[in-house]
Amino acid sequence: MSLVAADALPGEFAFTDADFEALARLARSEFGLSLAVSKKPLVYSRLARRLRARGLGSFRDYMALLDLESESAERLELVSALTTNVTSFFREKHHFETLCEALIPELGLQRRVRIWSAGCSSGQEPFSIAMTLLNFLPPGTRDTRILATDIDPAILRKARQGRYAAEDCETVPADYRHRWLRPVAGEPEMVETGPDLRALISFAELNLICDWPFNGPFDAIFCRNVAIYFDQETQQRLWTRFSGMLRAGGFLFIGHSERLSGPALAEFTTAGVTTYRKRASHGPSRPT
Ligand SMILES: C[S@@+](CC[C@H](N)C(=O)[O-])C[C@H]1O[C@@H](n2cnc3c(N)ncnc32)[C@H](O)[C@@H]1O
Repeated sequence: MSLVAADALPGEFAFTDADFEALARLARSEFGLSLAVSKKPLVYSRLARRLRARGLGSFRDYMALLDLESESAERLELVSALTTNVTSFFREKHHFETLCEALIPELGLQRRVRIWSAGCSSGQEPFSIAMTLLNFLPPGTRDTRILATDIDPAILRKARQGRYAAEDCETVPADYRHRWLRPVAGEPEMVETGPDLRALISFAELNLICDWPFNGPFDAIFCRNVAIYFDQETQQRLWTRFSGMLRAGGFLFIGHSERLSGPALAEFTTAGVTTYRKRASHGPSRPT
């Protein structure tokens, strides 16, 4: 009979409050994730499969494993298990309308266009941005690039493939679908993004709470439904860092349940639902 501490959840693996606190500390310091104690049952159910996969008997053993320097891949599995990759094409459609109605018309003669999709998951967000830009700025007319980053290497592999179930593409406007998505040979249920779209996007692995190896400035940053996992201090630091990456007048788009707060509020004006613009007085960042 195994000894299970009184505060452990009933189930296959021992998971004490001390284990939970150690896990929450690690998730916060390495990934900015905020795990309230009320999430303990959810954390248990999300991570139980990792313990099974690694042949471990308790969360204490799992914590010991995560501590090993050689286990960086397991630490990423942890983030993957604690966050979701839910996304879709043209999610929160009003942000794409703002691209068409405000950002693109204001570009004027500006040749260099830079957009960052931060926390891009399986790629539907940067591909939606790419379709919107290409519709108004045909290939070759500007120097246009989209940087698409995520912490999760497995989801980035999927994003780079750019292959999606046809039914997941129903939110793509029909004319965009015909122009930039094509059937996958031999897989009638699947479609893939075409070369014009892919050519605009660079995918890269990036933990948003670590250093960013680029300078910008960006014309727009999409960081939607990512900061929701972070504690308030991490969120506020992120908003301020985004401000430093945007040109004056640049757009910041965040998720439907997220709000800007803290010192960065002074650096932005509100420009629509979960849409912010960097104030001119804060000036552009250094170009790369
Ligand atoms: C719910 S998805 C959002 C996808 C897309 N932005 C959207 O709104 O449809 C959240 C993404 O954030 C990523 N993520 C979580 N923590 C992160 C971190 N510390 N740094 C970078 N990405 C992170 C996850 O891997 C996941 O793909």
